[in-house]
Amino acid sequence: MSNSPKMLLSSTALIQTPEWKALSAHRAEMDGVSMRDLFTRDSHRFGKMSVGIPGLFVDYSKHRATEETLRLLTNLARSRDVEGWRDRMFSGEKINTTEGRAVLHTALRAPKEANIRVDGENVMPFIRETLEKIRVFTESVRVGEWTGFTGAPIRDVVNIGIGGSDLGPYMACEALKPFAAPNLTMHFVSNVDGTHMAEVLKKVHPKTTLFVVASKTFTTQETMANASIAKAWLVDALKNPACVARHFVALSTNAKAVTEFGIDEANMFPFREWVGGRYSVWSAIGLSVALSIGFDNFQKFLDGAQAMDAHFRTAPLEQNIPVILALLGVWYRNFWGMESYAVLPYEQYLHRFPAYLQQCDMESNGKSVDRDGVRVDYATGPILFGEPGTNGQHAFYQLIHQGTSVIPCDFIACRETYNPLGDLHKLLLANFLAQPQALMQGRTLAEAGGNPQKVFEGNRPSTSILLDRLDPFSLGMLIALYEHKVFVQGIIWNINSYDQWGVELGKVLAGNILDVWDGKKDTSSLDGSTAGLLARLRGA
Ligand code: F6P
Repeated sequence: MSNSPKMLLSSTALIQTPEWKALSAHRAEMDGVSMRDLFTRDSHRFGKMSVGIPGLFVDYSKHRATEETLRLLTNLARSRDVEGWRDRMFSGEKINTTEGRAVLHTALRAPKEANIRVDGENVMPFIRETLEKIRVFTESVRVGEWTGFTGAPIRDVVNIGIGGSDLGPYMACEALKPFAAPNLTMHFVSNVDGTHMAEVLKKVHPKTTLFVVASKTFTTQETMANASIAKAWLVDALKNPACVARHFVALSTNAKAVTEFGIDEANMFPFREWVGGRYSVWSAIGLSVALSIGFDNFQKFLDGAQAMDAHFRTAPLEQNIPVILALLGVWYRNFWGMESYAVLPYEQYLHRFPAYLQQCDMESNGKSVDRDGVRVDYATGPILFGEPGTNGQHAFYQLIHQGTSVIPCDFIACRETYNPLGDLHKLLLANFLAQPQALMQGRTLAEAGGNPQKVFEGNRPSTSILLDRLDPFSLGMLIALYEHKVFVQGIIWNINSYDQWGVELGKVLAGNILDVWDGKKDTSSLDGSTAGLLARLRGA
């Protein structure tokens, strides 16, 4: 880890930096500045405040921002040494300081000839070997060479995992359905609610089902409980414990736990501790994606992320897409007090993208203690939510347009569709254009015919992201864009975006409650409410 003096800034020091103070002063000047006026004053605003790389275009002109705003925000990024931290992350330095780990999801999609070292070892040969193992296995399943225990080809794949071991592969399989093998149906079981597993098991046949147990730690309670249920169901149906070898594979860092569970190490696809759960779809955790879309397409998915990595590493901060998005997020979160952030894909295949991003963003930057262990005195990660358009328009957009909270939005759309039914795509895109326009322009009292209910304040910010089409490459770019956006914000806020201690306490308390439930402990450790609810659930 670098001992750059910038790392030693305490939380309070951030808001006392000249760059922060300059932004605070500028924020006051921006009071009353309307985007409508900014557009009227400068006919080149769109051209100046948009940026593209092949296949992806970002319009950030509909923001409460001027060129001066962006200059000051970029100054802040430089003063926080975003570029230095970025290079340290890519080179394998242990920037996840609370867990003493490197953060190397980028190595998983790095050019094959790269040399990225962790503890003296170049990690690329291991990554290449694992990719090759994934290629051989997924191809043999897809062509029917890898069969189930009775010799029948695999028809259904059930991915059992939760958090990053579910959200990434599930989102990507849904997003890339036009590329999916027609002879393989993908299922995802994450919840420890038995309903989730039961409903999937109703749809699949033991002889033709492959279970993919996805868990970095292989100790996650929900995943292990669900995997045990699936194993018992399979063995019960096929009447021979040896069937597990043909119907279960594991994606994990924990070979010992995998073999203890009864899965042969030959059927385990490994990755390393320097891949965070919510950044793991590029690793062996992506096996279900590769099964569904084929290895060549999976490689294109990695290549797309690599293209965004290259952009992030080389583009000047002023034209750097993840940096711009991150800085606008900081602008609204810290200088305008906006708490929420909506991601609105106008692309049905991206229907799980907001859920995926919730973990990526909120588990990464939902922190209130900085890298130095100091309670921060500024806001950090926003509350992220979203749904595909146009559905959301008929649900929560009312609040985005006329509510008392201002919620910056990312609108995402694809120029091409795989399903050109009538004029539907044009209709969809017209809405994709109309919503940001309405948010920005608003409607004055005079325009509303004097009716205050019909007034839209306007001046509500949004970014529009356009993909040429949704395919493995562009999905890879899009995900990597948000990963890096989250990274940049974490650096500015001086928090560690790569741990997740906040999920620990609930796990510990659930264990304690189970002990009380089973009579191993008395109720003295429970508060009155928890004890009362437990008593009702037990029917006491
Ligand atoms: O929710 C906490 C968490 O650790 C996530 O970060 C992770 O993606 C998820 O649990 C699943 O963990 P694992 O892959 O080890 O089962």
